[in-house]
Amino acid sequence: AATTVYEAETATITGGVVESNHAGFSGSGFVNGDNAAGSGVQWSTQAAAGTATLRFRFANGTAANRPMRITVNGTVVNAALAFAGTGAWSTWQEATVTATLRAGANTVQATATTATGGPNLDRLTVVDGGTTPPPAP
Ligand code: GCU
Repeated sequence: AATTVYEAETATITGGVVESNHAGFSGSGFVNGDNAAGSGVQWSTQAAAGTATLRFRFANGTAANRPMRITVNGTVVNAALAFAGTGAWSTWQEATVTATLRAGANTVQATATTATGGPNLDRLTVVDGGTTPPPAP
């Protein structure tokens, strides 16, 4: 299986800005989505076909869950993935879903479902379902 990291700040942002004022992010920053339903991030990813793990790295400095709908190639894989409070905007955790990916291009989208918007999003890590060749004898 291949592991690939896709930053949020270089993905397609719908309602939100790239910021860097809370430490601990990877890359050049993170996405602060608008505090509104419908804001989110869309990533263009490449994968081998199979069952993949999608890990969304986020921070939520509030005490309230900020759920997001996760779609893969337009199909909902989780209608309300939980992004619970992490204790501080500079404390980052990962929320994980499992999804079936096809070989090649796959579009992964995270969209806020409530008026508070989503968490701050740092990156998406895809661990695809490709088979790793066995070591040579
Ligand atoms: C604060 C925080 C932002 C965060 C926002 C929110 O303003 O500094 O990084 O995005 O709260 O509630 O979404």
